[in-house]
Amino acid sequence: MDQEIKKLYLKAKRPSKESAEAMSRVARDITNLDYDPRRETQTAEDSVKKLTQHQHVRVVNSGNSAILSVMSTLKGPILIPDQGGWSGFCKMGNFLGLKIHKITTGLGLIDPELLNQKLQKTSFKALFLTSFAGYIAEQPVKELYQICEENRVLLVEDASGSLGDTTKKLACGKHAHVILASTGSPKIVNVGSGGFFSTNNQDLVKESKEITKTLKPSPLTCAGLSVEIKNASHSFSSTVEGCEFIKKELESVFHRKKRGVNICLPSCNPKKVAYKLRNRINVVGGGMITICPRYERIEQKAVCLEIKNLDVECLNRDNLELLVQIVQEVI
Ligand SMILES: Cc1ncc(COP(=O)(O)O)c(C=O)c1O
Repeated sequence: MDQEIKKLYLKAKRPSKESAEAMSRVARDITNLDYDPRRETQTAEDSVKKLTQHQHVRVVNSGNSAILSVMSTLKGPILIPDQGGWSGFCKMGNFLGLKIHKITTGLGLIDPELLNQKLQKTSFKALFLTSFAGYIAEQPVKELYQICEENRVLLVEDASGSLGDTTKKLACGKHAHVILASTGSPKIVNVGSGGFFSTNNQDLVKESKEITKTLKPSPLTCAGLSVEIKNASHSFSSTVEGCEFIKKELESVFHRKKRGVNICLPSCNPKKVAYKLRNRINVVGGGMITICPRYERIEQKAVCLEIKNLDVECLNRDNLELLVQIVQEVI
């Protein structure tokens, strides 16, 4: 008898009911003459301050807007990883006419010693990186920050994938000059729109003022952010734990020993494997399979399981076991 071909049904991440209600409230209140939308911005910025432990915050309308705001204050070359970063680093930098250099990495991970050598040779203004190389593996942010600090280079951590890290290794103002993030979908703080940056550098906030004013978020986004941010730690920890479970079972995973919110598997034929996986894994309202090489993940033939895209409630043992089984059968 033929073996039964099991399918997995998962749900894409959506903003929580509570943040949808907060956004609806704003949509209702907006017609009241005594309604001040600046209150929403203030509350959102205060909630980010608590999370990242920086003194200054600007909420903007997207993650790329946050990158553009920060980059607009830089007058000199910037450094980014050669893979595992975010494409917006290049796009926003090019738009502003900044010189962009890439540092060689170990499949996305920056070696602190190499960074030190690079910073001593050239006077970069900033290093832009994502907390997780390709959402796959944790950067040694603390060590990189120390080196940037010693060389008077700004470390800008794109923490879209790491907000709410309770270990405080990532997305923590103590070891990043600037933290920025997208709160669009699907992200750890999943409002569906918006972004922000935080810093203790008051000059940076002042110098970016015209841009941040132009890229203001809607009060609905701010209201959603203030509520959704409360779920950050739960969303982050559940996603990391889900990935840890999968990594224990699948030996060939890239960066198996590192924390991450996505899984990346080497593959000789990523297109074919992705096609087969998509046939067996149904994600209602979204998708979770991407193909490499690509700058935002890994510059090698591979298939990614974008665990960060999933509603954390479906990351239960049964689903994870079936996911592993399907991958083992397909790959
Ligand atoms: C790591 C990272 N940074 C920034 C962004 C850009 O965010 P937005 O789409 O809100 O501009 C994204 C979007 O996917 C991202 O993955």
